[in-house]
Amino acid sequence: MQLIHDNRSSNTSGNRPFQDILQARMSRRNVLARSATLSATGFLAALAGDRWLDRGAAAAMTEGSRTAATQGVGNAIAQAPGSRLINFTPVPVVDGTGPVPTVSADYQYDVLIPWGTSIQPGGPEYNGDPSTRPTAAEQAQQVGIGHDGMWLFPIGNSNDRGMLAINHEFGRNQHVLGKRTPESLEDVRLSQHAHGVSVVEIQKTNGKWQRVGSSNARRIHVNTPVTFSGPVAGHPLLQTPAGNSPKGTVNNCANGHTPWGTYLTCEENFNGYFGATGSWTPTEAQERYGFLPGGFGYGWHNFDPRFDLSNPSYTNEEHRFGWVVEIDPMDASQTPVKRTALGRFKHENAELVVGRGGRAVVYMGDDERFDYIYKFVSESNWRSMRARRISPLDRGKLYVAKFNDNGTGEWLELTIKNPALAAQFADQAEVLTFARLAADTLGATPMDRPEWIAAAANGDIYCNLTNNTRRQVPDAANPLAPNPFGHIIKWRDSDNHVGTTFTWDIFVLAVDTHDTEKSAFGSPDGLWSDPDGRLFIETDGTQPEINGVRPNDQLLVADTNTGEICRLFTGVTGCEVTGLARTPDRRTLFVNLQHPGNGNPSQTNFPASQGSGKIPRDATVVITRKNGGIVGS
Ligand code: FEO
Ligand code: CA
Ligand code: CA
Ligand code: CA
Repeated sequence: MQLIHDNRSSNTSGNRPFQDILQARMSRRNVLARSATLSATGFLAALAGDRWLDRGAAAAMTEGSRTAATQGVGNAIAQAPGSRLINFTPVPVVDGTGPVPTVSADYQYDVLIPWGTSIQPGGPEYNGDPSTRPTAAEQAQQVGIGHDGMWLFPIGNSNDRGMLAINHEFGRNQHVLGKRTPESLEDVRLSQHAHGVSVVEIQKTNGKWQRVGSSNARRIHVNTPVTFSGPVAGHPLLQTPAGNSPKGTVNNCANGHTPWGTYLTCEENFNGYFGATGSWTPTEAQERYGFLPGGFGYGWHNFDPRFDLSNPSYTNEEHRFGWVVEIDPMDASQTPVKRTALGRFKHENAELVVGRGGRAVVYMGDDERFDYIYKFVSESNWRSMRARRISPLDRGKLYVAKFNDNGTGEWLELTIKNPALAAQFADQAEVLTFARLAADTLGATPMDRPEWIAAAANGDIYCNLTNNTRRQVPDAANPLAPNPFGHIIKWRDSDNHVGTTFTWDIFVLAVDTHDTEKSAFGSPDGLWSDPDGRLFIETDGTQPEINGVRPNDQLLVADTNTGEICRLFTGVTGCEVTGLARTPDRRTLFVNLQHPGNGNPSQTNFPASQGSGKIPRDATVVITRKNGGIVGS
């Protein structure tokens, strides 16, 4: 989601740890004057001096790559070492525009579960007819809008059948309701039911993927009962004077999945759904989380008092959002669980790897200008914790990242045992609920909007920093000011993901891809690493103009060994490309087209035929190689 509603940044902490050093080392002028052939690594090495090139550090990185545990990331089917990772015809920029998608000439695509598809055969279907809309009750039985993060949970390790869990991040009122603001509680319920998560069973029959009937299919939306677990569960911060039980998940951006087979959905811009009908003065915490009297214009607070910040009966309701939520895709009766140990902020995704000693380690970004990157490390081995009926996501340590200018970094623990935090907060529940404020206090590094984080099989962690047009002072980790096209940073944690230090580098500055047509991109957002070392990069935002043409948002594949980047797919006018899931054999890749045409049928009728007049609908796109090879190869 591009934050077109929210152009502020709410971090006024003044954390600018590299400012002094970098002003001496670097200026915008020398960034812009750098040689086009200077690699990102060379660029950082020039900044960081000799220490980055230290042989001992390089040897340590290699050792770490041999020992990195990769359970829960990708799968074990690997390509022969040394073979070329990218071997497809790129989509030319000139073909990457207009109202329909374009895929590499070596590939094909199909469309699956657009907004309004009934989650069960025979249920209510919506086809984008502008003269009719689903009712709120119908929408609660249909795939929502704002398709974003997703994951496929194969049934019996099948490559042809599985449960697809998919996020519905947002849907503007004009798109969902056909009007700018809701006029009734029914309108609000329709909007609320279009948000959340769908779990649908899909199957490939005669080469075509389709939704099929399933006892595990379900819709989770803003009014679905949920429960809390971890250190904040049961705390007064999660209780309202009205005594209403916790319900719902909202602005479900990106995702994660666990080695024990569950789906993680991440609540991002939850603040935008709250507003105030009466007099309301934001607290410091509400300001830091970006609450506004009118929200982002959804208008829910006008008809649903839960979302009214000025209604004293619902004080604390906003603390129930901004979490990572665990969903069992194989059990429709399971109550979604908000895992409070992972902290409350504007969660983009939750990339889980298994670190030393079998610990569950979750890397997470907080997507706002000048916000932070976090890491959770479970208390002990995830299998032994589960055997003791303890969720690995309920007990552990939460850290925030500080990137030093010399290519090293530190994970700062968000703990009430730290005197600086004990002076500010009453208990660990407050630290976690107001994680942004705690991270401000510890001096975390403000980043250029951390989007998805992806763990590579060799132990490297990549993070998309989508853009930051407000940055005025560069630092080593965010070296462009302003940074309109973004960059991708990578790091390697000490002690196989469990340690509190790391070494880092810039993988690529998006502006450095603009000289080569096949690689040119901007605003990286979705990210996934396959087990061979391919990085799948999805974009959300303005793309660079190449040879006079500005392509639609796109999917590119990077070879992390060589740095080669190649355009595999382009979306439709006005959409972003997001979400990444694959079959176990990686012969099928699923991505999402979110907000096609920004909901305007004069821009595109996707996925209906052009000229049909249908409202464009968010949809999943199924990408396969024509010769049946691994997607991305
Ligand atoms: Fe949901 Fe940061 O995009
Ligand atoms: Ca984005
Ligand atoms: Ca999004
Ligand atoms: Ca995103």
